[in-house]
Amino acid sequence: MRGIKIIGTGMYIPETVADNDWFSTILDTNDEWIYSRTGIRRRHISADKPNYYMACQAAKAAVADSGIDPAEIDLVLAATCSPDFFYPAMSCLVQNDVGAVNAAAFDISSACTGFINALDTASRFLLDSDYRNILIVASERLAPHCDYTDRTASILFGDGAGAAVVTRSDKPMWSYLSAKGDPFRALYCKVDQSRTNCPLIKEDSEMSKFIDNEAKTHFMQMNGKAVYKFAVEAMETAVNKVLERAKLSKDDIDLYIPHQANARIIESAVKNLGLPEDKVYVNLEDHGNTSSACIPTALAELRAQHRIAEGMTVCMVGFGAGLTSGAIVYNQ
Ligand code: UT7
Repeated sequence: MRGIKIIGTGMYIPETVADNDWFSTILDTNDEWIYSRTGIRRRHISADKPNYYMACQAAKAAVADSGIDPAEIDLVLAATCSPDFFYPAMSCLVQNDVGAVNAAAFDISSACTGFINALDTASRFLLDSDYRNILIVASERLAPHCDYTDRTASILFGDGAGAAVVTRSDKPMWSYLSAKGDPFRALYCKVDQSRTNCPLIKEDSEMSKFIDNEAKTHFMQMNGKAVYKFAVEAMETAVNKVLERAKLSKDDIDLYIPHQANARIIESAVKNLGLPEDKVYVNLEDHGNTSSACIPTALAELRAQHRIAEGMTVCMVGFGAGLTSGAIVYNQ
């Protein structure tokens, strides 16, 4: 039987705060608009540290919390859509820093659904191989991706990292993963290859599928309304599908941890699904949307508050660029 137990969690949130009032000093916006439309008051920016630094801090905290020796980690999975390097994979930097000398390592890139996809991958490794302990870290430094002249997108995102150590469990888990490659243009960030010095390289005509002439930049491009609509539907579908697979009712779940994109997205989906609000964890007021890091950061906060107890059934649901979505139900 496929099952996981989370035996340690950790998080790292950078010190620099960008609150809504700060945004009103650089953009035509204000706290009232941002809070009422998104539920966000502040987010944190990694002003002077790379993404892998945040990932390593969160990972080390998770390993310390788990109590295992780093040498007992068999695999390091890193979920990120904002790596510092094309290669090496961020997971290799984490593997080295935590001292996971016996671990393999690779990255998973599926934006805000990254932690869900990584946890699902981990559960399959735990089932089908002799791996015992897997370290998952999800870390994002989105500030360099955001266009701080664009008031619609930049106000949503923050930087941070969350990590979890997972081990095999004889209690069941279920997952539902989905990808919808069209409309991929709703949310993307193009790799900047303008610095090539290869004389043979011409302008990449295939890229016109993604970008219009005004958007030929390496900044994140987002159709907020399209993503919003997708997000509400994706969250509902993923929760319904995973509960169907688990043969559980909505009431059987003790705790829901959704991706923290926008409080209105969560509220709409929660209302449509008929979930009890007090079982749904929301922390985006303080962090904004940290993409793949949202769910493991929430896990780390909940564990630190002793709100995830042995035997609880937890449902996590993510959605984001790709467009991708997914949900996991597991018994702690
Ligand atoms: O992980 C997934 C990542 N992406 C998302 O989750 C994005 C999902 N989408 C959203 O969260 C929302 O669509 C936004 C927060 C991006 C936008 O909220 P909205 O309620 O859909 O606003 P809107 O785009 O319909 O804009 C309404 C008005 C517009 O002005 P006009 O045309 O009515 O005069 C915008 O220009 O609000 C204006 N506006 C702002 N005003 C003040 C847009 N952004 C701002 C702002 N401050 N920051």
